[in-house]
Amino acid sequence: MTVLRFIEWFVIVAVITVILQVVQIPLRTGGSALVYLLGFIIKAAVSVGIALYCMAFCSKLIWNLGYLPAALYAVLLCDAAADLIALVIRILRGTEPGFQAVMLVSILLTAGFVIYGTVNMQIIVPKEHVYTSDKLHDKHTFVFISDLHYSAAQSESAVDKALREIADLKPEFVLLGGDITDDRSTAEEMREAYEKLGSLGVPVYYIYGNHDRQSHADYIRGAKYTPEELEETIRSNGITILRDEIAVLSDDLVVLGREDASRGDERCAVRDLPARPEGAYVVCVDHSPYQEEDILATGADLQLSGHTHAGQFFPLQYVYRLSVNNIYGDYKVGSTDLYVSSGIAGWYFPFRTVAHCNYEVINLDPR
Ligand SMILES: [Fe+2]
Repeated sequence: MTVLRFIEWFVIVAVITVILQVVQIPLRTGGSALVYLLGFIIKAAVSVGIALYCMAFCSKLIWNLGYLPAALYAVLLCDAAADLIALVIRILRGTEPGFQAVMLVSILLTAGFVIYGTVNMQIIVPKEHVYTSDKLHDKHTFVFISDLHYSAAQSESAVDKALREIADLKPEFVLLGGDITDDRSTAEEMREAYEKLGSLGVPVYYIYGNHDRQSHADYIRGAKYTPEELEETIRSNGITILRDEIAVLSDDLVVLGREDASRGDERCAVRDLPARPEGAYVVCVDHSPYQEEDILATGADLQLSGHTHAGQFFPLQYVYRLSVNNIYGDYKVGSTDLYVSSGIAGWYFPFRTVAHCNYEVINLDPR
């Protein structure tokens, strides 16, 4: 992400903030409790609706508005919070807060929220995990990276710093869990991403996510590279693609990489997956964490997934939980340990208020 894009992001937020505050002066001047209550409900609902629409649905309109939807979401949500504060003060103290005070609270909340979310997206931190099993004869340490979505949300220096840290860890190998690029990534950005990931100095294995092959790019003036160019770039950087395939890494450790669930029939039925060596510890990597039937049928010891970005925008993590399981963190599905990563970045917008950007350091220990 370039400096210009950061400027664009903050300018859009500032312009929307000013317009919203000016438009609301007549409403807030002598505004009744009802005005504040209705304002809170409408703005909070529209804000969450925009965030949901941005994150969960492919829409030509939303995808072509650049950073505008995320800025609108942040400004409306903070303004709704200011209305709620004004309403509580009015109920508790019986006095009417002046519109200047409500305006100031709204602007301060917006500034704090947007600065936090923007800075949080730029800070990539490792997260350590330990799994033990009597199937393991030796200790193994590897790194799992998903959802880089290179490179609309993070500066190149933030990505480079994280990749340097990963290389310095000298893991046995690195697993790439999909969505390394995005429907918006240019061919140059795609090549840059895999050059960086192929230069970690350790074996790297890759599975596809739902965005890598730009299957939704029709919404944004078409794909910038073909699936064949992507595959050729990944392979030419020494990265092994696992598409319903296994990699036997030692006599006690096997990685099973799944085709993404969004590809329908292109994804193998579990019964057709290659046989895993008897007695080995199996790590399954599947971009989406939602396929619980497959997890149960595969019976891997550990599954690593991404895709959800942990919700990325407050309060989407709670909204998601109403409809799907396995949003973020540790789960147990049958006998399989499932870990859903928040991702090393997030989807398109330079903004994350839920969880942090993580790469996962996985330690496997003999019991
Ligand atoms: Fe994804």
